[in-house]
Amino acid sequence: MKPEILQIGPMMKHVEEALQEAYRLHRYWEAEDRASLLATVGPQVRAVATDGHSGCSRAIIEALPKLEAIASYGVGYDAVDVAACKERGIRVTNTPNVLNDAMAELTLGLMIALCRRIPQADVHVREGWWLEGGYPLMGELTGARVGILGLGRIGKEVARRCQAFKMRVAYHGRSQQPHEPYEYYGDLALMARDVDWLVVIAPGTAETKGIVSRQVMEALGPQGCLVNVSRGSLVDEAAMVELLRSEALGGAALDVFADEPRVPEVLFGLDNVVLSPHQGSATHKTRTAMGDLVVQNLAAHFSGAPLLTPVV
Ligand code: 8YV
Repeated sequence: MKPEILQIGPMMKHVEEALQEAYRLHRYWEAEDRASLLATVGPQVRAVATDGHSGCSRAIIEALPKLEAIASYGVGYDAVDVAACKERGIRVTNTPNVLNDAMAELTLGLMIALCRRIPQADVHVREGWWLEGGYPLMGELTGARVGILGLGRIGKEVARRCQAFKMRVAYHGRSQQPHEPYEYYGDLALMARDVDWLVVIAPGTAETKGIVSRQVMEALGPQGCLVNVSRGSLVDEAAMVELLRSEALGGAALDVFADEPRVPEVLFGLDNVVLSPHQGSATHKTRTAMGDLVVQNLAAHFSGAPLLTPVV
């Protein structure tokens, strides 16, 4: 008998095919009546496959009395109720490492795009405005200072790339990492005051909620730029919008938002902003590797082998 699995949302074709092959799959997002799906198949479900956005709530976990494991597609697992999992000894896996390079590439891409206003310059050409005159002069990354909030696996890849761009790198995090060559700030606002770019790549947790406060953004200031590729929850979005409008904050490049996919419309009209639809890891290569990890973690769980990338 194949083990029964609850799949919370759509996944890549190769992942769905592999899951379909190995398990009896129940497709939660497609159910017309999700509560009745949980009531009928819930008691048999032994694992959940989900993604970083859909996660797995306490309510779903409680409807699955035989749940043993949750495999989440994404490095951030803030949408999975890990506390509820710990209470019941449910194992949770994520997909770290395989997305580090893709994430770092998009981060630098957003920084260049904002610094040189690439999307706006593209519009300038497409609209025929170039015929009336060239695009204004812009800043550059070379020689600028960048502060990284969260020098984890992705943060380190961002730091290396910033160095390749001849930037000076500092970081803020829970603790100093003495073997890293970058300047450490124990105080985020102080770092924001001293840098030109603040890159947010710390995980979304209760501890980091709102950590990029109005005060931090004011310290970054009218010449400073904010880049968020982590979670919208880390930034006080209302304050950010206000500061960007009044140019008390120089600019922002944003891949994540507080209430995705809803983005504050006022940002659409601002020239000092570059917007991106949460696509840090969204390359064929990286998403395939992430999907493979979901499949492999579930296979490891059911065969009694060690999990590849457990978070709990
Ligand atoms: C994915 C992410 O977009 O890894 C993460 O934490 O945010 C992204 O890679 C997300 O998990 C897809 O649902």
